[in-house]
Amino acid sequence: MTPTLAQQRISELVNELNEHNYKYYVLSQPTISDYEFDMLLEELKKLEEQYPQFLQPESPTQRIGGDITKNFAVVKHEYPMFSLANSYSREEVADFINRIYKTITDEKIEFTCELKYDGVAISITYENGNLTSAVTRGDGEKGDDITTNVKTISSVPIKLRENDYPLKIIARGEIYLPRKSFEIINKEREENGEPPFANPRNTASGTLKMQNSAIVASRKLEAFMYYFISDSISENSHFDLMLMAKKWGFRTPNPEKRFIQKCSTLDEIFSFIDFWNVKRFELPFDIDGVVIKVNHIPQQETLGYTAKSPRWAIAYKFKAEQAKTWLESISFQVGRTGAVTPVANLTPVQLAGTTVKRASLHNADQIEKLDVRIGDLVFIEKGGEIIPKITGVDLSKRSEYSTPFRYVENCPECQTPLIRKEGEALHYCPNEWECPPQLKGKITHFTSRKAMDIEGLGEETVELFFNTGLIRNVADIYDLKKEQLLSLERMAEKSVSNLLYAIENSKKIPFERVLFALGIRYVGETVAKKLARHFKNIKAIRNATHSELTQAEEIGEKIAESIQHYFAEEKNNTLLNRLISYELQFSLSEEQMSGTSSKLSGLSFVVSGIFSTFTRDELKENIEKNGGKVVGSISAKTNYLIAGENMGPSKKEKAEQLGIKIISEEEYKKLIG
Ligand code: IVH
Repeated sequence: MTPTLAQQRISELVNELNEHNYKYYVLSQPTISDYEFDMLLEELKKLEEQYPQFLQPESPTQRIGGDITKNFAVVKHEYPMFSLANSYSREEVADFINRIYKTITDEKIEFTCELKYDGVAISITYENGNLTSAVTRGDGEKGDDITTNVKTISSVPIKLRENDYPLKIIARGEIYLPRKSFEIINKEREENGEPPFANPRNTASGTLKMQNSAIVASRKLEAFMYYFISDSISENSHFDLMLMAKKWGFRTPNPEKRFIQKCSTLDEIFSFIDFWNVKRFELPFDIDGVVIKVNHIPQQETLGYTAKSPRWAIAYKFKAEQAKTWLESISFQVGRTGAVTPVANLTPVQLAGTTVKRASLHNADQIEKLDVRIGDLVFIEKGGEIIPKITGVDLSKRSEYSTPFRYVENCPECQTPLIRKEGEALHYCPNEWECPPQLKGKITHFTSRKAMDIEGLGEETVELFFNTGLIRNVADIYDLKKEQLLSLERMAEKSVSNLLYAIENSKKIPFERVLFALGIRYVGETVAKKLARHFKNIKAIRNATHSELTQAEEIGEKIAESIQHYFAEEKNNTLLNRLISYELQFSLSEEQMSGTSSKLSGLSFVVSGIFSTFTRDELKENIEKNGGKVVGSISAKTNYLIAGENMGPSKKEKAEQLGIKIISEEEYKKLIG
């Protein structure tokens, strides 16, 4: 291809892909399959690699991030970012409307009701249709310039569409993390032995302040835009402006989904509020209320602003579902990393449709801040979090004999004095070689599905083997003998042989998963993969210096320190040497070294949906590396359909009609061993 043709094709692909992105993220109406999209993206990536001089700033390949921002510049907002006055009752909303009728006496007034997104406010400037800066609210006057991170969010346009957009326009909106993505991030943190994030909003806010934009891109943030500032907007109403802005490429609230609605009476406003107060739990993201705005823009201008907020809008905040109950006791859980977390045991009470017996108390500081005491009548709330939390104490019901709660000083399981490192919220039990829940936790982590995948050695069986003294650590698993197991009451012949078979089979588990299974702090699945690929064997990791470790992709100071700490401990080395002697995989296989195998040769695959351990591209690459073929659509020749989440129903139907095997991501992994 000549450079001229390449430039032309790059331009075509950028336009075409951005158009599909718009249809997918803004209109929620894709017209091509994910596979077709990926193929076009692949073509573009290759051309851009070959001809970097033709790379366009609005290219969808630029959304994968990678740029590092050391310090975010603080910039002044051209127009201050106002907040909204809050209301909590029908009366307060009625007062708001009456106030408006007092100022605008001679015109009909229409309102819009829309969702109040519970995320992070953002102000994004577009000049000549190009995204030029994205700034956080900050104090309303000045905020942080987080342009690089915001550009990774697919629902934020980098270049506007059509040609009738204003030459300069500031879009204001909310960036949020969908609940599903929040759960995935927390699951991964849990697996890495890191404390979970509290809720999607805090996670979104923390993510936007990360220095590495590639991590931001991987977290799948989304955005809605709900307010625009420009000198040259011809729309007269907020509602019409939202529809117009959608044409320009902005993701604005969808009236068809009732995310925005025009209302003329208080009753209509309240039917919108009542609808979302119930339905909000079915949304894929958190909202914390409804925003009511005067629809007509000239009327908004007449009403103007107070020092802090517009007079033409008000937020109605939903009450968090709340209940009161007695705090019976506080217990402490010790995790595999030794982290101690307090849990409140409550007199069972109904809250948002479920019976609640336990609530989280987070850490010692939280208990002290709330001054929660055993025997108190406490308020509990269910917000975006999965486990309800204690938010306060009804002091009028406190017994005069109650005393402040004293946080445990010793491990509740092994009595070792707890430690709390500087800057960390949690207490830790340092007795990692003796403390039973830590030992058991390490073993169950080792045997878990994503690690050594030893079926039949789950939490309960580990507990049994541990309590009977059969195993104390992960190496002991490989010393288990048939007779020992048969002598246990609950173990029948069949389950014993199955278990021994599963243990033997685990010796084939690839190096990266063995590394993850060891449970080194901060070495989760992804980090283990990167380490394995970079160092190739355990010896190289063990001998690596701090700076050699940090040279590997995604290995920062904290992880390097933790790895060195692990290998500095003699007991870990003894354990490792035993595992090596049992012939577990402690180096990359030949196939992994060369990056290929022929396990899937002659087989063809269709990939559809979203996967948890692979991106779709990674999965396809993996199939090809293993000798398989990836095809775009299902035909009689297809051997497997790998089904991820949110797979379209038509693919499934077609596969079923043709009798093609539909397998999950996990089953695929089994297929390639
Ligand atoms: S309008 C000039 N609309 O809630 C008025 N704000 O607690 C601009 N928010 O500052 C705000 N959803 O960050 C507006 N549909 C919505 C909103 C919304 C969430 C946020 C916004 C605002 C805060 C006030």
